[in-house]
Amino acid sequence: MSYILAFYGSPRRKGNTAILLQQAVQGAREAGAEVEEIVLRDLKISPCLEIYGCKQNGRCVIQDDYQKLHDKLLRMDGIMLASPIFFYTVSAFTKIFMDRCNVHWVKKYWIDEAPMGKWANRRKGLFIAAGATQGRKLFEGVELTVRYFFDAIDTQLWRSLCFRGLDFQGDVMKHPDYLEEACAAGRALALALAADAVNAAQTAPPAAGGA
Ligand SMILES: Cc1cc2nc3c(=O)[nH]c(=O)nc-3n(C[C@H](O)[C@H](O)[C@H](O)COP(=O)(O)O)c2cc1C
Repeated sequence: MSYILAFYGSPRRKGNTAILLQQAVQGAREAGAEVEEIVLRDLKISPCLEIYGCKQNGRCVIQDDYQKLHDKLLRMDGIMLASPIFFYTVSAFTKIFMDRCNVHWVKKYWIDEAPMGKWANRRKGLFIAAGATQGRKLFEGVELTVRYFFDAIDTQLWRSLCFRGLDFQGDVMKHPDYLEEACAAGRALALALAADAVNAAQTAPPAAGGA
């Protein structure tokens, strides 16, 4: 069974992105995935202090709630991340979490010396965003931010769902098509991860001592 982490990045517990992410979580569960939900505003996580204690062994040295997430991030097969657009990027809760994940970037590129730009990320990530305005460039910044954050945690940006015109809490309920799209994306992510697992099992080398 695929294991997916679902991160809620809004300060609003029942905000637009939370409602959309709940739909995606439900879709993924219906398709057989195990999904663990994490509400970032409930965690006490310091911003990255840029002291690079992680260069020693690939673990962050700041002792706070980020430590509860580190091993889950190593174990997951897929990720869902939902954030409102705040000044053309993610919310502060989301950005603080992302910056702390720089420990994975350090491990991958500095400690393990993975080839930058030539690394095939093995996980899949779904990003969900909501913004109030209709601007053409509304999601340009955030998509770059998320793409490179996902790369650090060995994840390809598999799909991003970016919804405009959502401002007040609950606005998304006026758009049943958005809710259905989020649910379908969650379902599709779970099925894609299950297919990846089958492919990986089929292409794995035979166990030592086999015929
Ligand atoms: C601090 C702050 C900054 C915001 N910046 C933007 C912005 O740059 N562009 C935009 O379209 N909406 C902006 N918004 C509106 C939110 O993106 C919008 O209300 C969204 O639906 C909130 O999602 P949520 O309910 O999941 O928190 C901002 C809201 C806040 C509180």
